[in-house]
Amino acid sequence: MDTELRLKKRRLIIAGNWKMNKTVAEGLELVQSLKRDLANVKEVDVVVCPPYTALSEVSKEILDSNIRLGAQNMSEHGSGAYTGEIAAGMLKEFSVRYVILGHSERRQYQQESDALVARKALAAHAASLKPIVCVGESLQERESGATNKVVETQVRGSLAGMTKDQAAETIVAYEPVWAIGTGKTASSEQAQEVHAFIRSILTSMFDEQISRRMRIQYGGSVKAGNAKELMSQPDVDGALVGGASLEARSFADIIKNSL
Ligand code: 13P
Repeated sequence: MDTELRLKKRRLIIAGNWKMNKTVAEGLELVQSLKRDLANVKEVDVVVCPPYTALSEVSKEILDSNIRLGAQNMSEHGSGAYTGEIAAGMLKEFSVRYVILGHSERRQYQQESDALVARKALAAHAASLKPIVCVGESLQERESGATNKVVETQVRGSLAGMTKDQAAETIVAYEPVWAIGTGKTASSEQAQEVHAFIRSILTSMFDEQISRRMRIQYGGSVKAGNAKELMSQPDVDGALVGGASLEARSFADIIKNSL
């Protein structure tokens, strides 16, 4: 990317969503390699999102590095009788800074609604965690021409009630469901088109100054080979990476190719 475009762009944020993968030992091995491979990378915010069970150990391992920690979900509640749930304050104990909310897998398997995602996002902000709010259409929705309508409903619903200051600290991840884990990436033009559309919605919800500050990640089969092209789009401000974040080499290559 040329220097002029880079100056106009927001700082890239590239996050690895490990999903339900990695034991503590495997997670430690992965971040130890990433620390070595990425020691000189200062221009990008690098985030790893391990499962809850590895947060404590991974947190200690990355203490002296430029890698930051994210969680994959959290409760909308602060504490109480919610068996199996994890509160924002508990994540803070491990220096978690980011939390993925409303991932399509949670929307699909746990029936998470936009309203629930919005309540979780407000709870995250109240605890000074930065939410990464996921949106994206299914294949059927894209093919029937409903992409913009679906994405607009999700963005408006999932960021409802946020102040401008909170919005500025929120990351939106556009993850077309048909591109997740399928090897089918949105083309850089398709990604840019939806990202620009999302930014226009954010302008109408908040204002232009805020929407220009907000980072919008792309997610869905991001690999070392397609990262550069995607990241060079004017409204693509990073990536949320699944499969390719499970190996140090491929995740580090995505980051290096995005510089
Ligand atoms: P893949 O990179 O495996 O397609 O997953 C994307 C994703 O869901 C990240 O949250």
